[in-house]
Amino acid sequence: MLQLPKVIGHRGAAAYAAENTLDSFREARRRGATWVETDVKLTADGVPILMHDASLKRTTGVDRLVAQTKAGDLPQGVPTFEAAIDCLRELGLGCNVEIKPCEGREAETARVVVEVLRRRWPAALPAPLLSSFKDASLVAARETAPEFARAILIDVLEDDWRGRAEAVTAVGVNANGKKLTAPRAVEVRKAGYLLGVYTINNGDVAKALVGMGAQCVITDTPDAIVAALD
Ligand code: G3P
Ligand code: MG
Repeated sequence: MLQLPKVIGHRGAAAYAAENTLDSFREARRRGATWVETDVKLTADGVPILMHDASLKRTTGVDRLVAQTKAGDLPQGVPTFEAAIDCLRELGLGCNVEIKPCEGREAETARVVVEVLRRRWPAALPAPLLSSFKDASLVAARETAPEFARAILIDVLEDDWRGRAEAVTAVGVNANGKKLTAPRAVEVRKAGYLLGVYTINNGDVAKALVGMGAQCVITDTPDAIVAALD
């Protein structure tokens, strides 16, 4: 059974370092995280990299779509997924790998992500957790590599959440903690799913969510949340 930590650093430790970079992973480690969450998508030539947005603009200043940029033309500092895994190995960090496909590349992105994980994920680290807002990605991940645990990502839990979780054989639900209600949290736990919440940077809010049943808090400020939950 997958063992999630109480705290996962969001995009590394996004409050303290450039998100989804190796520096951000190091910062998360320094600030007490044992796991990080990161977003993975594909370049034009199919290389998995760490990037949240469809465009490189917000995080690198380069006004170009990831899907139209070859890996060799990426701005400095954007890690490949492989380099990220090597860094996680060095740091001893677990990882919630969010499959964040560019539009139309849902299945392809998932297949590449799990292929890299199979080849490169260090046996010494805890098994990773895959998550995605895109069910097509989670289905493709399951078809290619069923051994990696999956969580659905949901902004607001509606009545259909369980159908989504069952359709991708998820073990967990990662929900927007700012919109999660106590009855929904209870429903998720009672149904036997792991419950994670994102992106919570306030210690009191984190404590309240844990009180509601959340087992894992994804945060930009791992130090603050580790301190609050200890
Ligand atoms: O995986 C949790 C969280 O990262 C989901 O939202 O947009 O920050 O990737 P986002
Ligand atoms: Mg994410």
